[in-house]
Amino acid sequence: MAEIIITKDEDAAGEIYAKCVADLIENKPDAVLGLATGSSPLAAYRHLAAQVKVRKLDVSQVRGFALDEYAGLDPAHPQSYRSTITRTVVEPLGLDPAKVHVPNGNLETIKDAGHEYDAAIEAAGGVDVQILGIGTDGHIGFNEPGSSLASGTRIKTLAEQTRIDNARFFDGDVNQVPTHCITQGIGTIMKARHLVLLAFGEGKAEAVRETCEGGISAFCPASALQLHPHATIIVDEAAASKLAHKDYYRYAYAHKPAWQQI
Ligand code: GLP
Repeated sequence: MAEIIITKDEDAAGEIYAKCVADLIENKPDAVLGLATGSSPLAAYRHLAAQVKVRKLDVSQVRGFALDEYAGLDPAHPQSYRSTITRTVVEPLGLDPAKVHVPNGNLETIKDAGHEYDAAIEAAGGVDVQILGIGTDGHIGFNEPGSSLASGTRIKTLAEQTRIDNARFFDGDVNQVPTHCITQGIGTIMKARHLVLLAFGEGKAEAVRETCEGGISAFCPASALQLHPHATIIVDEAAASKLAHKDYYRYAYAHKPAWQQI
């Protein structure tokens, strides 16, 4: 089972992620970071950027792989995940843009793009720390309910709920949200050495409950984390509100040996 940490808010969660990744970069300057879009990781990226500055970390060799991208959307579009990762991660952290990869959503080459992406991750030595958000339906990356838990990077059809959830980034117009995407598979994500999933707010409470305390099922793709040897799930009180074993998670975290990292 994953370690579950219940924090005050997104900032507290972001600090935990930032410390973990800053320590990693200090020890491994060419660390491979798994990157996610969405609002959940934003505070974590902000805190990591602050740590990079304060600790004067050299990030010139750090590499990154994003989880997913819309299919058929110009990478220069402000809501493409390429643009989003540039804005929220590459620029604030000062990463070398040439070392940060985003799946290629070009419809003409998408058939092979998934295999190529997985091969590139492997060639880089695999992802050290993969940050994850979670969809209200339990998706990670863009692996919608029903996705194979062993899947590699590939094209997927977005669920209607996901398009509705993401319409806020497209002037509130669901018709502007692409119908397809390319996403790291659950099998790809599971190969990362450490997974850190962040979830905040009441809207995520049911997905968090299913992820942590439900059965392992393709119908809650994030539940695959129960099989990962090193997964950390950091939530706020609202997202934790439906967990039956909250007290145990709090107790375990409070008694964690001081020398032990997340
Ligand atoms: C999108 C992304 C996911 C993200 C999810 C939740 O579907 N593909 O990677 O986890 O949104 O987004 P948010 O963190 O904004 O709630």
